Amino acid sequence: MKNKLLKEFQAAFPRSGEPLAVWAPGRVNLLGEHTDYNGGFVFPMAIDAGIGMAGALNGSTAVNLYSLNYDVGDSFSLQEIKPSPKKKWSNYIRGVCKEFQSAGFTPQGMDIVIFGNVPQGAGLSSSAALEVASAVLVASLHGFAADAVEMVKMAQRAENDFVGVASGIMDQFASMMGQKDHALFLDCRSLEYELIPTPFEQKGYAVAVINSGVRRGLVDSAYNDRRRECEEAAALLKRELPEITALRDVTVEHLDLIGALPEVLAARARHVVTENNRVLTGIEALKAGDLATFGEALTASHRSLQKDYEVSCPELDLLVDLSLRHSGVLGSRMTGAGFGGCTISLVPRQELAEFEEKVTAEYFAQTKLQPEVYVFSASPGARLLT
Ligand code: GLA
Repeated sequence: MKNKLLKEFQAAFPRSGEPLAVWAPGRVNLLGEHTDYNGGFVFPMAIDAGIGMAGALNGSTAVNLYSLNYDVGDSFSLQEIKPSPKKKWSNYIRGVCKEFQSAGFTPQGMDIVIFGNVPQGAGLSSSAALEVASAVLVASLHGFAADAVEMVKMAQRAENDFVGVASGIMDQFASMMGQKDHALFLDCRSLEYELIPTPFEQKGYAVAVINSGVRRGLVDSAYNDRRRECEEAAALLKRELPEITALRDVTVEHLDLIGALPEVLAARARHVVTENNRVLTGIEALKAGDLATFGEALTASHRSLQKDYEVSCPELDLLVDLSLRHSGVLGSRMTGAGFGGCTISLVPRQELAEFEEKVTAEYFAQTKLQPEVYVFSASPGARLLT
């Protein structure tokens, strides 16, 4: 990847200086969906697909970008950073530069090439990978003393303020802090985390990711509505439970109180509260080597996202149902924000080929969409490619 990036940089910016190359991965969330912005628990892993960048300072106040995937360039001035209405992909980098400025740093002009191999709009966090790669590149080129978690927050704010999605911190955190062969158990309130070994392979299983082919438009979706509904539910529950500040503080013992909320808010809150609980019990099972219980938590998570949180779609439900029908599959659910994107399933390795063949054939027969199947391994987070 490094050599490709450096070669392409030379071709795009022949007069520029020696570039640095960086990499930031996408992520698959194993458990804990729509809990991060409620201050709750998540359990994602960084994957071996992501975004690479090569860049050098150019001695001006302009940032010149070249996307190898789109085969198109863009430029913006650091003197007044504004979103681009046309080249939306460049807004992630614009937003990150602006965040460095807001944090008191002074980025200089740069020439940058970008190449990604993580599917876009598939719920695998290509956006977070782009933001995190930008942050690591900008910091490395200038020698800025921003620590990893600070950059995670800048990347998240770039998405919130510049791209317009009120997303939580999970994706950027996973992209920055992932570790090989581990998933991240993250408390999204304190940002304390624990690296948990992923024992799937040793136990003869794989996490099969299936891309439904339904593209998920986060900005246009009901994501921001869900966030608002959660805040409303928390505000109403606070009347009975004055000590709470977010749904994170509500537990399964409060399900009765939740049931008394207006119907939609009750369903949203029920999802968040039970999902937080599933992260805790799922990780406990994983630590005990009990993949069957972990798999059950995956499927229960899907049903909750489907029925209570209402962020699934018929295609994702179909993939989950087809996957669960296959013998030996321990669990299946949608991953990411929903409304399209991918499912994950815990599949016996020796069944993988047949699983892929059967599920994709049946899915295509029913939807006329060609799904893609990936088996990612848990991978290290963002880094300078030396
Ligand atoms: C998107 C957001 C995350 C998180 C998930 C849902 O990926 O970027 O912050 O909220 O959706 O779990």
